[in-house]
Amino acid sequence: MARILSVFVALFVASASVAAPVEYRQVGDLACNIDRLKIVAGLLSTGAAVNKIDTTDPATATSVAAAQAGLTTAGDAIKDIALALVTGKAAPASSRTGVSQGLNDTRSALERITDPTVNATVAAALSQLQAAIDDGNDVIADCK
Ligand SMILES: *[C@@H]1O[C@H](CO)[C@@H](O)[C@H](O)[C@H]1NC(C)=O
Ligand SMILES: *[C@@H]1O[C@H](CO)[C@@H](O)[C@H](O)[C@H]1NC(C)=O
Repeated sequence: MARILSVFVALFVASASVAAPVEYRQVGDLACNIDRLKIVAGLLSTGAAVNKIDTTDPATATSVAAAQAGLTTAGDAIKDIALALVTGKAAPASSRTGVSQGLNDTRSALERITDPTVNATVAAALSQLQAAIDDGNDVIADCK
């Protein structure tokens, strides 16, 4: 996850220092860039919340591993999008799907957890995840 953050820092440095050719428009305006930072921060918070779930119960451990895999999928896809933006290329459509798919996988995995003793930490992770999904929707709305 830290690597994703550094890619976004690179993206900001690049967008600040490079004169904007036509194909650079995809870097987006300020609202769009704030949304992008928010989804990266949201993924980091969701990951931290998922790590707090007690995995003593084996079924919970399996679901937590699946939730973490979903976050990795989403994070890798975001990294691909950021790299495409930095190099002035179009972000691959498959990466957008990857973000959505990864977040959906994380949600289904968390929703499979039935152990009542981890209820609170699962609820906290789901609420962080919903915030990240909302940020993702803002990116789609604001980054045209
Ligand atoms: C993720 O879930 C949302 C809402 O259920 C859905 O609209 C979207 O198509 C799903 N994304 C993928 C990649 O399946
Ligand atoms: C988990 O906690 C929430 C809020 O306290 C409660 O609404 C929900 O019914 C609980 N779920 C389970 C499975 O215990």
